[in-house]
Amino acid sequence: MVNDSIYIALDFPNWKEAENFLIKNELQGVPVKVGMELFYREGPSVIDKLKANNHSIFLDLKLHDIPTTVMKAMRNLGNLEVDIVNVHALGGSDMIQAAKEGLLSSNKKTKLIAVTILTSVDEQTLNNELHIPGLVTENAVHFADFAKQNGADGVVCSVHEAKQIKEKCGSDYLTVTPGIRLENSNVNDQKRVATPKYAKENGSDILVIGRSITEAVKPRNAYERAVKELDIK
Ligand code: C5P
Repeated sequence: MVNDSIYIALDFPNWKEAENFLIKNELQGVPVKVGMELFYREGPSVIDKLKANNHSIFLDLKLHDIPTTVMKAMRNLGNLEVDIVNVHALGGSDMIQAAKEGLLSSNKKTKLIAVTILTSVDEQTLNNELHIPGLVTENAVHFADFAKQNGADGVVCSVHEAKQIKEKCGSDYLTVTPGIRLENSNVNDQKRVATPKYAKENGSDILVIGRSITEAVKPRNAYERAVKELDIK
């Protein structure tokens, strides 16, 4: 039982642990998200290994640098032929356009999405620490729209913003939502969490689930619970 809209966050320190997790829990072939922790340790070879086992891949490196650097980095990431890559919308319009240009120069299939506001950031952090005024949701919707105008195919956002982003940017604009928690699991450092069912009902196209599955007593059961929740009409 595999669901194309649930990506498991493979937040492991190395390939050996990630591979053990996938094999032990019979999760080979499910869509996965590879983040900085695993990629910085293993490099592109981890992508080849996952592709050899038919995993769809969201490579979550959240690029944020000057436009030329991002363009060249994206050209290299495009060669890995993963399904989704991302940048921070806060990098600005030139940077998002450069990311898209770099990606298109090596691969036309990979989707580029932009991080709006990290799901670990709440209003107090946004207003008082980052000095960005306004509500989290209105900023997320603004960044989503602005990223779309500069070539992004979608956004990483909180479930609580997905519906408004769809209304503003159109139903085809991809919403990828982390901060998902199965009932009874730990919230950890996420400040804006939701269940899979709530996420689906509120406009999320792709759900990223990490610790609710990877740290569950029985990860395979936790994955299946999430899949079932999405299947219930
Ligand atoms: O364990 P948990 O389900 O909280 O994992 C969420 C994953 O999604 C982590 O890998 C985290 O880096 C990522 N993520 C996030 N918020 C974003 C973008 C990515 O939590 N805005």
